[in-house]
Amino acid sequence: MTVSRQGNPDYRDSGLEFPEGFIFGSATAAYQIEGAFDEDGRGPSIWDTFSHTPGRVENGDTGDQASDHYHHLEEDLDLMESLGLHAYRFSIAWSRIQPTGRGPANEKGLAFYGRLVDGLLARGIRPIATLYHWDLPQALEDEGGWTNRDTAYAFADYARIMGEALGDRIDTWTTLNEPWCSAYLGYASGAHAPGRTDDAAALAAVHHLILAHGLAITELKKVVTNDPDFSITLNLHVIRGEGETGPEAVRQIDGLGNRVFLGPLLTGEYPADVLADTAGITDWSFVRPGDTEIIHQPLDVLGVNYYSTTLVRLWDGVSPFQHSDGHMDVGASPWPGAERVEFLAQPGPYTEMGWNIEPAGLEELLVKLHDEFPDQPLMITENGAAFADVVVQEPAGPAVHDLERTDYLRRHFTAAHRAIQRGVDLRGYQVWSFMDNFEWAYGYSKRFGIVYIDYDTEARIPKDSALWYRSLVSTGIIPE
Ligand code: NOJ
Repeated sequence: MTVSRQGNPDYRDSGLEFPEGFIFGSATAAYQIEGAFDEDGRGPSIWDTFSHTPGRVENGDTGDQASDHYHHLEEDLDLMESLGLHAYRFSIAWSRIQPTGRGPANEKGLAFYGRLVDGLLARGIRPIATLYHWDLPQALEDEGGWTNRDTAYAFADYARIMGEALGDRIDTWTTLNEPWCSAYLGYASGAHAPGRTDDAAALAAVHHLILAHGLAITELKKVVTNDPDFSITLNLHVIRGEGETGPEAVRQIDGLGNRVFLGPLLTGEYPADVLADTAGITDWSFVRPGDTEIIHQPLDVLGVNYYSTTLVRLWDGVSPFQHSDGHMDVGASPWPGAERVEFLAQPGPYTEMGWNIEPAGLEELLVKLHDEFPDQPLMITENGAAFADVVVQEPAGPAVHDLERTDYLRRHFTAAHRAIQRGVDLRGYQVWSFMDNFEWAYGYSKRFGIVYIDYDTEARIPKDSALWYRSLVSTGIIPE
C-alpha cells in the first residue's frame, strides 16, 4: 500500500521518490571486514592489540579474518554492482599503508586500495574513502596515541600519501569516522581500543583528532587533482530531556557529544560551556593558538551517522559515579565531566543492539543541522540495524528474510525523504553495512549487513533487505 506523505507518524511510507542525483550507497570499515591482519606488510593497529586482549571483545573475537574482504575483493565488487550501488564508503587501514604509522608507504598496501578504487570506478560506483575508522597503528599508540599532538601530524603525512596515490580517483575524502567514539570510548570508558580510562586523555584526544582532520584536509588539497569533496563523519546525538532536569542534562550531552565537534569544525570555536563543564578535568592547554583555524576547514559535505535517540535527565539523588566525599569516578562513563547525567531506557521497538528504533530522530537531526548551518550540505554516511538473521535453504538457494531490517531501512529512508521535503540539502545515504562484519566490542555477535556472511565458509548471501535496496537504488522510489 502506498500511503500519502502527510500524517504518517510511523514513517512506513512507500512510493516516495528521491531527487535526481541522490547518491544511494553502502558502507563498511577496514578492520571490520578485511581480515588478512598480517598480510602484505600490514602493521598491527590498536584494534589488533585490543581484540587479542582477553575480556575486551565478546567471545574473544578478533578481526584477524573478519569477512575476509581482502581475499574476496572482486566478488564483493561484483555484488555491489549487482545491487546497483551508486557509491561505496570504505575505510583505509593506516597500518597497511604505514605499518608503524610513520615512514614510507608500503606499496602492497597502496596496491590493495588502488585495486579497490579501480574496481569501483570500472563498475560505475563512486569511491567515498574514510582515512581513519578507528584503527590507529599500534606504534603511534605506544607514543601516546591521540593524546599526543604528534599523532595529528603523522595523520596528515598519511593523508598526503593517500592523496598522492589516489588523489585522481576518489569522489569524497572523509578524514575521520565518529571521532566521538575514538576519543570517548577509546580513552574515557575504555570500551574500545586502546581501552584507556582517563577523562583528561579523552578530551585531549578530541582536540588532536579534529586537529588531525584539519591538517589532513590541508595536505590533501595540495596533492589531489580531481576536485573531490572533503568531509568528516560525526555520530551526532539526538538528545531528549526528561523532567525538570532534562534541559540541563541535554545541554551537557549536546555539548560533549555534538557541539564540541560542530563548534570548531563549522564555526572555528569550542563552545564556552563545554570548556567550563570540563574545567575540573583539563585546562584545555593542548589547544594552541591557530589550531581552531586549522580545524575550521570548509566541508563540501558533512557526514552524519544515525541509529537511535538518547533520553537524559540528571540523577535523582546521588549519581552512581559519585563517592561519599563528593568526588566523581573517572573512566566509568564515556562522557567526561557529565557523570551527573542519567541515560534513561526508551520505549521500543529495539534492534539487536538494544537501540530504540526512532526514524523521527533522523528527520529531526537533519532538519536541526540544516536550520543551524543552512549552507552545509549533508550526507547520511551510516544508518542501518543489527538483527538476528537466519539463513533458510530454499529451492533457489540460501536466503535471509530480514523483514525487520528492511522495515527499519524503509522507515529511515522515509525520514530522510521527509527532511528533504523540508528543505534539507541531503546529498545521499550510505546504508550500514554492505556486509556483516566485526562489530567492535560485540565481535561477530551482531549482524548489520544487507549481505550475510557465513563466517565458516566466507560465503556471501544477499539478504532480502539488499534486494529491497536494489529496487530503491534503481528507481529512486521507496519500495513496499
Ligand atoms: C558506527 C561505526 O562507524 C561502525 O563502525 C559501527 O559498526 C556502526 N556504528 C554500528 O555500531
